[in-house]
Amino acid sequence: MHQGVERVLISRADIDKKVNEMALAISEEYHGKNLLIVGILKGAMIFMADLVRAISIDVQFDFMAVSSYGSSSKSTGVVRIIKDLDQNIQGRHILVVEDIVDTGLTLNYLLDILKAREPASVRICALLDKPSRREVKVPVDFNGFSIPDEFVVGYGLDYNEMYRNLPEIYVLKQEVYKITK
Ligand code: IMP
Ligand code: MG
Repeated sequence: MHQGVERVLISRADIDKKVNEMALAISEEYHGKNLLIVGILKGAMIFMADLVRAISIDVQFDFMAVSSYGSSSKSTGVVRIIKDLDQNIQGRHILVVEDIVDTGLTLNYLLDILKAREPASVRICALLDKPSRREVKVPVDFNGFSIPDEFVVGYGLDYNEMYRNLPEIYVLKQEVYKITK
C-alpha cells in the first residue's frame, strides 16, 4: 500500500461490483433516451471511465472542470467554471457524474447552472457520498457508497492533486494532512 494512506476503505472488487450495478441501473433508466453523460474533472475521470464501459445503451459524453473559490479544504459554494461543456444541452437528458458529494455546495451550484440551459432532465450520479457533511440538499439519483466523514483518496480522488492514480479507495494518513496543511 502507498505510504501516504492508512487503510483501504473500499476495495477494487467492491468498487467494480458497485460500478457494474450503477451502470445497469443507468442503462435501464435511460433506455430509449439520448443520454449525455457529463463528467466533472478531474476527480470523476477514473470512475466515469469504468462506468461508461459498463453501460449497455448508446451514450455521449462531455466534461466540465470547476473549481470552488476559497481555500482548498473548505468549499464556499461559489463555483468557477474552468472548462465548460462543448455542446448545447437544451432538450438533452443529462447525467452528471461526480466522484464524491461532501457539503453538496459544488453540485448544488452546478445544477443551477445546468438547469438554466434548459435540458430535458438533469440527474446526479456520484460514486461516494458523505451524508454527515451535507450543508445543502442535493438529489443524488445514483449513489455508490455512503461513507463516514474521513478524507479519502484514490480511484480519481486526490489530496493536493496526489493519489488519484491509486487503484482502490483509501483513508488518507493523518500525518499527510497535517504536514501539507
Ligand atoms: P462539496 O462542494 O463539499 O460537495 O465538494 C465536493 C468536492 O470536494 C469533491 O468533488 C471533491 O473534489 C472534494 N472532496 C470532498 N471530500 C473529499 C475526500 O474525502 N477526498 C477527496 N476529495 C474530496
Ligand atoms: Mg472533485
